Order: sequence, then C-alpha cells, then structure tokens
Amino acid sequence: MDSLILRGGNPLEGEIPISGSKNATLPLLAAALLAPGFYRFSNVPKLKDVRTMSNLLRILGAKVDEVDHELLIDTSHATHVEAPYELVKTMRASFYVLGALLGRHGEARVSLPGGCAWGPRPVDLHLKGLEALGAKLDLDAGYVVASALPLRGATFEFGISSVGASCNVLMAAVRAEGTTVLKNIALEPEVTQLANFLNRMGAKISGIGTRDLTIQGVAHLQPADAAMIPDRIETGSYICAVGMTTGKVRLTNTDPHELPSVIDKARQAGLTIETGADWISVERRGGALSAFDITTDTYPGFPTDLQAPFMALATLAEGQSRITATIYTDRFTHVAELARLGAQIHMDGNSAVVTGVPKLTGAPVMSTDLRASVCLVLAGLVAQR
Ligand code: EPZ
Repeated sequence: MDSLILRGGNPLEGEIPISGSKNATLPLLAAALLAPGFYRFSNVPKLKDVRTMSNLLRILGAKVDEVDHELLIDTSHATHVEAPYELVKTMRASFYVLGALLGRHGEARVSLPGGCAWGPRPVDLHLKGLEALGAKLDLDAGYVVASALPLRGATFEFGISSVGASCNVLMAAVRAEGTTVLKNIALEPEVTQLANFLNRMGAKISGIGTRDLTIQGVAHLQPADAAMIPDRIETGSYICAVGMTTGKVRLTNTDPHELPSVIDKARQAGLTIETGADWISVERRGGALSAFDITTDTYPGFPTDLQAPFMALATLAEGQSRITATIYTDRFTHVAELARLGAQIHMDGNSAVVTGVPKLTGAPVMSTDLRASVCLVLAGLVAQR
C-alpha cells in the first residue's frame, strides 16, 4: 500500500508541461492489435495503466518497448486472443482489446473487467454493439468468448454515451463487411483521436467529431504512428492545485479547447486564467474563492474525472457549492476522507453540498480511485497541522 506524506502551505509557482493523455493512449494501444506491424507512439505518459496495457499486448504476442515518452510496438506476432482475468481486473480499459481482437482475428476470449473502487461499471453497451456487428458472444467462467467470422456492418445506437463502448465497437466496425452507422458516439477528445488514428491506419470513418459515425469496412489496415493528445484531466487537476494553494503556474503542451467547461468553472471560483494555442496560465493571488455549482456531463460538459479535484477546491470556497454527479452517481468515496480534514460536506442524493471552511487540517486519509487520490493530494497541499 503506497502512501504520500504532504506538508501543506506553499504557493505554487512555475511552469509544468502537461503529459500525453492516459485515456487517449489506452485505446490506441488496443487499436495497434488491428494490423500487424510496427507502431511508434509519442507523448506517452509514464503511468502504471499504460504499462499494464503494454503488458497485455505482450501477453497477446506483441513486442512493446518503452523509450522515454515513446512506445515502440510491433504486433506482427500478436496472434494470441485471450486477455486474462489477472490483468483485466487491474485495469478496466483492458476490455478495449475485445473489439480489436475481433477485428483482426474474428475471435477473442476476454475477461469481464468487474467493478471498480466506486461501484459497478457495466459493459453491456460494449457487448450489444459487438453483437449488432454479428459477433457471437458467450460467457464462460467470467470470460466473454467472442467469435465473428465475419463481422458485418450494421446500424447501432448507444443507449447512453459511453467512451469505452464507443472505442470498443468502433475498433470492430472498421473491419466489418459493408457499412456501419454508430449513433450517439461519445464526443470525448480521446474517442476523436482514436477515430482519426484508425483512418490513418486505412479505415474509412466519416462524421468524426459528431455523434453519428459512418464506417465503410475495409479488408486490410496498416500500422500508423501517433502522438498522444494532451491530458485534459491532468490539466484540470493542476488548475485546481493553483486555486487551492494560490500562486501562478503556466501549463504548457496542453490544449485549452479540450476543457471549456472546466476553465469557465475555475474562473467562476475566482481564478485568473489566460490561454493560448497550447498553454494555460492559472493565477490566484489572495482573495477568497467563490462557491460554484457543478453537474458532471459527457463531453463537452464538465468531466466526471474532475468532480473530485474540484470538490477539494470547493471545500475552501466562501459559501455553498453543489456538486452533482450524473455519469457515476456513486463516485463520492472522497467525501468522507475530505471530512477527516475538516471539510464541511453533506450528501443530498447524487449531489454533494460543500460549505466552505477557512482551512483544512492535516490527517491520515485513504484514497480509492485515481481521481479521488488527486482530490486528497490537492487537499494535502493546503492542509495545516
Ligand atoms: C472512460 O471510462 C474513462 N476511462 C473514465 O476515466 C471516465 O470517467 C469515463 O470514460 C467517463 O468519461 C478511460 O478512458 C480509460 P463510460 P469508461 O463507458 O469508458 C455507463 C479515469 O479516472 N456504461 O464512458 O468506462 C457507465 O456505468 C477513468 O481516467 C454502461 O452503462 O466510461 C457510466 O455511467 C475513470 N454500460 C457511463 O456509461 C456500458 O457498457 C459512462 O461510462 C458502458 C458504460
């Protein structure tokens, strides 16, 4: 069990280059299974989840070498089709290989991912979409056993906007015979990057950036290189950090256009934010933070992954902030931990009502998922003894 010890109270000053996006890297690693050959991915973040996905590709027969912030991938011999439970249970995005394995081999045996730190996370949309493309799916001892020889184009509408299901089904659709229309595709930038990458591999996807994609299936795809888009959630987390500690920080190698709702909310809270093509300057000098309301939504709405970091900010904002979760209505494991630091929060259904306090006080706390961990680190940056 790793732990961090933080001594709060210092303003943040300086410049931070933002990493490549974790949630853009993971689907692209799965997509590299679709065509045998050599891929070079750059601006890749050095993260456990990326190493986990790289290990999964190795289990499936690929070679993956990490050189600084690049991944050199060779899927020429990625002929295995089983993604084991021991690995998939540690990282849900491993489930994305299902669509790619079906697209390349016409068969797959992938463990169901199970739940996560804050509750159940179903994959029914992934499975319904693949079945719409003609996949035959069975459940065997916790594994999805899939076959599709061949995949056939179809029209499928996602009942709700799902990043993962959009990625998984799209990676199968590009190899399905005929025309596929996918309706209500997720608009998150990570899905858009995947669609553009698949087209660079020779797929024929149109409508990218809209809710409806039309895909002409192709018989062959070829490898392509990619540079990961900036991590918008990391960007938003650093914006919160400056809001909590005061100071001035310039975030570079990022894209302010990826997080319009986040910048608006930070300005509402009282932060001074200037932006350029690939940079964001965040400043807070003295002065009280102002309370704000958030309702999480699918892109371009306020991202669920920044709900917890912004709740940390709200704990110090004058007045009452209301933070409502609509994507995951139970993603509040950080509330009880923030209360241990002196935060005043009460739950009202799927809303957290946060009453600002003058200060937080240091204490041992337990983190659960990645974003709840960020929330508690942010609180630790300002908590006093
Ligand atoms: C992606 O998860 C992200 N993960 C999550 O980030 C992010 O919170 C989430 O999208 C929402 O933006 C990666 O990109 C690797 P969804 P994903 O399918 O794809 C429901 C992080 O911290 N749903 O868009 O699993 C689901 O329960 C992680 O980086 C179904 O009902 O999320 C949720 O309510 C955490 N059936 C909603 O859709 C399905 O088959 C959106 O989930 C699939 C999803």
